Order: sequence, then C-alpha cells, then structure tokens
Amino acid sequence: MRNSVIILAAGKGTRMHTEGAKALHTAAGRSLLDWSLHIANAVDPVEISVVVGHRGEQVSASCPEAVSVVTQEPQLGTGHAVQVGLTGLSAIDTTVVVLPADMPLISHESIRALIAVHAAENAAATIMTVELADPSGYGRIVRIDGEVTGIVEERDATDDQRQIVEVNTSVYVFDGLLLQAALARVTNDNVQSEYYLTDVVEILVSDRHTVAAVTVPTHEGIGVNTHAQLAEVSSILRGRINMDLLESGVSMLDPMRVYIDAGATVAPGATLLPDTYLLGTTSVASGARVGPDVEATDSVIGADATVKYSVLDRATVGPRANVGPYSHLRPGADLREGAKVGSYVEVKASIVGKNSKVPHLSYIGDAEIGEDSNIGAATVTVNYDGYKKHKTKIGDRARVGSDTMLIAPVTIGDDAYTGAGSVITHDVPDGALGLGRSDQRNVEGYAEKRRRRAEEEAD
Ligand code: UD1
Ligand code: CA
Repeated sequence: MRNSVIILAAGKGTRMHTEGAKALHTAAGRSLLDWSLHIANAVDPVEISVVVGHRGEQVSASCPEAVSVVTQEPQLGTGHAVQVGLTGLSAIDTTVVVLPADMPLISHESIRALIAVHAAENAAATIMTVELADPSGYGRIVRIDGEVTGIVEERDATDDQRQIVEVNTSVYVFDGLLLQAALARVTNDNVQSEYYLTDVVEILVSDRHTVAAVTVPTHEGIGVNTHAQLAEVSSILRGRINMDLLESGVSMLDPMRVYIDAGATVAPGATLLPDTYLLGTTSVASGARVGPDVEATDSVIGADATVKYSVLDRATVGPRANVGPYSHLRPGADLREGAKVGSYVEVKASIVGKNSKVPHLSYIGDAEIGEDSNIGAATVTVNYDGYKKHKTKIGDRARVGSDTMLIAPVTIGDDAYTGAGSVITHDVPDGALGLGRSDQRNVEGYAEKRRRRAEEEAD
C-alpha cells in the first residue's frame, strides 16, 4: 500500500505567547514543521499535504516545493483539519498518516511500526498512544476487553474515563477512503463545538472495522505547546544528535554542554569542548579541536584545525589552521591551510593564505593575503571610506609591521615590508619597505626644563 501524509499545522499555539506561527519555532536548528516533514519522509510518502491556518502564509512560505499546502479557515477542529488536508492529496486510496506539526520527538522506528501494525491487523485506523503518569488534558484511549472502542477528550470524559492513563498522541494511520467517509459523519456536538478527528474512531468501530493502537516510549509523545516544552524537546533532540556523534567516534569532554544543530556535521576523530555551538550547516572535519566557547554558524572547520573562544559566521577554516582565542570570523573569512588568526582579530570577506599569520589585535576586511606572510599586531585594513569598500592585497612572504594602517585600495608586494606605525596610502612594490610615518625628533633635557619652569611658577 502507498502512504500519504497529512501534517496538521493550522493551530494557533496560544500558550507559546509569541507572535509567529508555532510550527516555525526551532528545536536543535530545525523548525517544528521541518521535524514533522522529516518524520513524514520516514514512511516514503507518495504525497504530503500540510494544513495551514493561523499565520498560514508564513508557514506555507517555509514548506518545500514538493508538498501541497492547503488552508483551513476557519479552524473548526482536528476532524475538520484532516478533511481539509485530504483535499490536498490527489489520491486517497492510500494509507493516510496524520501527524501534528508539534511532535518532533516521534522516532522513525515508531512511525514505521505504526504502519506495520496497521497493515498486519488490516486495520481501518491505528493510533499512536503513550502512557502518562499524569494524563490530564489529553484524549483517553477507551478499550473494551482490550479492544480500542473510542477516544474521549478530557473535557467530555466521565470521572472513570479520566482515570485512564493511555492517551492519544494525535499521530494516526488511516485507510484513506474509510477516513474520508467517517469524517463526513462527524458532528460538532461536544463541549468545544469542534469537529473532533478522534470521533472517527467510534464511527469506524461501530461499522465493525478494526482500530489498532501502538504504545510508544513516553517521551516521544511530548508535544510542544509551551516554551518549557520547546526547551525540553530541544534538549532531547540535541541529546540524540550528540549520542549518535559520540557513537560514530566524535569526542566530547562534556556532551551536555555541546549544542549541535540537526544540519551540522562532525567527522569521527574531531574533539568538541564545552560551550561549543555548531549551528546551521557547520561542518567539522576529523582531527579538528573546537571549543571551549565557540559559536560557529554555517561555517567549515577543516581537518586538524584548532578553534577556541571564537565566533564564526559563514567562515572557512582550512586544515591545520589555528583560530583564537577571541577571534571573530565574519562572512567570507577564508583561512587557508595552516593559517593563524589569533587573539582579538576580526576577519571579514578576506583570504588569509597558506601558513600566513595575523596573530594579534587586527582588523582584516576585503583583503587578500598571500602565503607565508605575517601581519603585525594592531594592523588595520582601512577598507571603508564612508561610501564604498576597497580591497587590500598583500603578497607572499610579506612582513607588515605592527600598527600599520593599510588605506585601501592598496597593494603590498611579495617579500615587501611596512614599517611599524605606518599609514600606507601608496602601493609597496615587491621586496620594498614602505614607511609612512614622520621622523622622530628628541628634545634634549626636556624633563629638567619642565621642572625648572614649575619651580619658577611656584615662586
Ligand atoms: C488533540 C486530540 C487529543 C490528543 C492531543 C495530543 C482531538 C480532538 N484531540 O487534542 O485526543 O490527546 O491532541 O496532543 O483531536 N489543528 C488544526 N486545525 C484545527 C485544530 C487543530 O490544524 O482546527 C492542529 C493543531 O495545529 C495541532 C493538532 O491539530 O497540530 C492538534 O490540535 P490541538 O488543538 O493541539 O488538539 P488537542 O486539544 O491538544
Ligand atoms: Ca495539542
């Protein structure tokens, strides 16, 4: 049987108390919507239909091309939402998986198990359930002689039914055609005057269809309704990512203090130290040592490189390169093999060539530095004239003296020098020394003269 998926993302998320759509909140670097799409893809669906409503345009804009987006307006309940979701599918003579967009912890094994049980039992519906010590607020699974006969919402439940600890996760597998027929018979005759998807269960059972249930580990049933739950879910997702990496051969001094987004990659043999954040699509190669205190976003860290106490944003750190402590690599910073960017250095849109060094207190922007060059402490590429950015070029084996101001556009040749404290406004040819500072003048006996004047004034 082919699988289709309906993702429910129309709800308001009132308890998040934030303006944006709930489905677009992120956990471990992926939006809740993206997590649900990943879960959906675990069942190899022929089609995915996403139901949007509250902040629908935002949610729809972040859906991939391949999914069909349908709008539920007004939102009349989960049953109504699935009815709308079915209109986004071109065929419904399939198995239809229903996933809420706020349950990112559902494992791929659990969703596949749900489908397997559904097929094995020849069921019309199969419900994913969890057992909770405190089931309040959830729909309870009602069974007679072990067989599922219905789901009753907290608000509509009797005192006896409220004692049931097996609850509905809102993840289901249905026979598409039977689902559509049953939804047409659901009414809004309940405390909330909503069309409940859960009522479909009783309708199918009354028509003598089989309804099955699969109980999954409790934490998979944690939904995101509040920021506290979002934090809890994020921490569990990060724990899974770190555990997988540890098993693959990545070393972490303290895994609780390493924060890796789902889209980041770390090769076996890398070492991650505390308070390291690998965000977005950041990749870390084998032998690299990252941390403590590094935030790297969409950056590349090469083999055997070292990065500590630094911030990287869309930067590339070549193999064996050395960064920090206290460096800021901004977009387009491109450190080649063996390069060094040391303490209190900012680099933006610049190449630091192979084995070249910018060891201390410098700003390098819109520059190209060749190989084996050394940039003295407190050098600044003066790249901005208030209107436009200009380029600085530094050749191979150059020695830029400490506290050089390189007024761009300017070129320092191969093997060239600049004198410390120079303001360089003209190109320095290959092998030359550029000096741009006034000659020193000493005033002899100055201290003695000052002392005498002070004494005269006192008289
Ligand atoms: C629902 C279930 C309940 C289950 C619980 C698990 C019903 C009637 N109840 O309750 O049995 O224990 O989930 O979390 O289904 N949504 C729409 N359109 C709507 C209403 C909801 O798209 O008109 C979406 C929401 O965005 C959410 C999902 O459906 O993703 C669940 O809705 P929610 O309001 O959270 O249902 P609960 O009352 O929690
Ligand atoms: Ca809910």
